[in-house]
Parts: sequence; structure tokens; C-alpha cells
Amino acid sequence: MKTILSPFHLKDMTLKNRIVMAPMCMYSAEADGLATPWHYTHYTTRAAGGVGLIIVEATAVSPEGRITDQDLGIWNDDQRDQLRQIVLAVQALGSKIGLQLQHAGRKSESSVLPHYSVSDQAFSDDYLAPKKLREADFPMIAQAFQAAAKRALEAGFDLIEVHAAHGYLLSEAISPLTRPDMALTDRLELIDQVIKAVQVVWPETKPLQVRLSATDYVPEGLSRSDLLAVVDHLASLGVDSINLSSGGVVPIAPTAFPGYQVPYSALIKENFDIATIAGGLITSIDMATEILENGRADLVYLGRELLRNPYFVHQLGRRFDQAEFVPRQYRRA
Ligand SMILES: Cc1cc2nc3c(=O)[nH]c(=O)nc-3n(C[C@H](O)[C@H](O)[C@H](O)COP(=O)(O)O)c2cc1C
Repeated sequence: MKTILSPFHLKDMTLKNRIVMAPMCMYSAEADGLATPWHYTHYTTRAAGGVGLIIVEATAVSPEGRITDQDLGIWNDDQRDQLRQIVLAVQALGSKIGLQLQHAGRKSESSVLPHYSVSDQAFSDDYLAPKKLREADFPMIAQAFQAAAKRALEAGFDLIEVHAAHGYLLSEAISPLTRPDMALTDRLELIDQVIKAVQVVWPETKPLQVRLSATDYVPEGLSRSDLLAVVDHLASLGVDSINLSSGGVVPIAPTAFPGYQVPYSALIKENFDIATIAGGLITSIDMATEILENGRADLVYLGRELLRNPYFVHQLGRRFDQAEFVPRQYRRA
């Protein structure tokens, strides 16, 4: 029963346990995309809480790639230097830290225009009509991801996660809902260029992860065989791990229940030799243990539970009698 607290190795990164903090936008950046004391406190608290891997929220590779003007950015050196303070503090507390690289595509509500998309259709009536990218524009997007990855490296991040879930730019590019008449291989062209551009600057020794929406929750959306083909392609490019989420390409809310996305991770584990992170409404030690012990994922992410309870891992330490997961300063608690 100790798998959840056992170390995990991916490339040169060693996590002290299998609990991952899911990326969660705080919408609390200054207007220029700079991290604030809120971010510093928020992430270092989870590191003091013993989380193995913290994935910093969606951080935009360009100003118009933000969801809102309050999102973090990593398109300039000041943003990098501010993030570096968080990286150093989190690492000093014994956690590893990754950065989610984001382009919001047609779901951007940033004041910076135009919003780019692979479609000329707005996400919904509440959104502006985007500017449709031509294939000749793809290198511009790939370059933005590459520059962001380079700054993430300079900031000292242990891992980067390319955000290709939730209907944002790379996610909508993959989905047949946005590009109904296009073959999957063509829908993969944008993420293919992005991953290859990132790999030019991101060292092979550090993990490169992609977050995917495993399903669109409508019959015309991404199929199970599409998902497998996407992962196959990413694995062939050298992507090290897949963080599984779902939905967001169209405004349909799934019926969510504890573990609702775990089967997608299990499917990938059955078919590929690639690391996965599963989660979604995981709130208990037993649920996290079940996923790991049954080999349905290598790591488990917690989102909202860690917002409520930053010390989830301390409770694991007490339950499994592993004092090292409770900081010395808090052992009298
Ligand atoms: C406040 C909040 C912000 C979020 N922001 C992001 C984000 O920046 N990137 C992302 O991929 N997912 C984001 N998500 C989704 C979470 O990463 C996670 O997949 C989701 O909350 C389900 O996990 P949970 O049930 O453990 O919270 C966000 C969720 C919440 C609650």
C-alpha cells in the first residue's frame, strides 16, 4: 500500500511521491502576465504540503494566447524572472515543478487581438470571432512555444506541459469538431510543429509532457481510436508523459463523477509504454491508491482537493506511517 508514496523517475526528474498538483489558473496575474505574491504563496504552500510534482497553471506563450488578461505569461524575461523565484522556493522545499504552456486560441478573452484559431467560428456567442490561422502561420505559433520553453528552462522548471486540452488552440486543432473535414494526420500538424520546436530548446534530459482532452463528449468528436493515434504520434515524437483530461472543445459539460477520466489513462497504459497522469474529482487517499496500485496511471493529479487541503500528502504520510512526508516543523500537529 505504499505505491502512492514511492518515488517516480521520468528522465532526470525524480518525484518523491506520486501526487501531482493539477494546473489551475488563478486569474491573479498582473495585467502584464507577471506572477504576484499570491502565486508564490499558493505554489510554495503545496510544496510545503509535500506534493511530488506541482504543475503551474496555464501560462501563455503570447499576449493574445491568454484566456484572460489576468493569466500568467512567459513571453518576456521579466515574467521568466518572477517565475524563477517560485521555482527556486518550490524546489528548495523538495517538490518538483512543471510549467503548463498555453495558447488559448479562440477561447481567449484577452484584450489583445486578434485571437487565433484553426477555425473562423467563435467558440460560442459569448466569444469574439477568431482569425483563422493558415498553415503558413503555424511556425509563428511554434516559435512562441519554443521561446516560452526556452524561458521555462532558464527559470529552472523541471518539466514542461504543452496544453493541448480543453478546446484551447492545440486542442481545437486536434478535434474533428473544429475541423470536421480534415484527416487526423492533418489535424496533428500544428501540435507536431509545436513539439518539434520545443524540443530544439528543451533538453532531452527533462520530461516533456502533453495534456490532452481524451474525449469531446459528443459522438462526432474525438474517438477512442483517434485518441490512441494522437498518443501514438506524440510518443513517436519523444513526448514522455500524457496528462489526461477531457472536454472543452464545445460548450458541453460532462457528467463528472469521481475517477471519470481514469479509464482514458488506463487505455493508454494498456497500449503504450508512456507515463500517464490521471485524475478528475479524486479526493481521497483510497481513490488515489486504487488508481496507482491497479496500474491505471503512473501519477495521480489533484486539483480542487489541493485547493481545499494543501496538506493532503501529510495525511498520506500519517496514514502510511512515513514520517518524512510530514515536515519536521509540523510533526507535533
Ligand atoms: C480553478 C481551476 C482552474 C483550472 N485551470 C486549469 C489550467 O490552467 N489548465 C488546465 O489544464 N486545467 C485547469 N483546470 C482543470 C484542472 O487541472 C483539473 O483537470 C480539474 O479541476 C479536474 O480535477 P479535480 O477534480 O481534481 O479538480 C482548472 C480547474 C480549476 C478548478
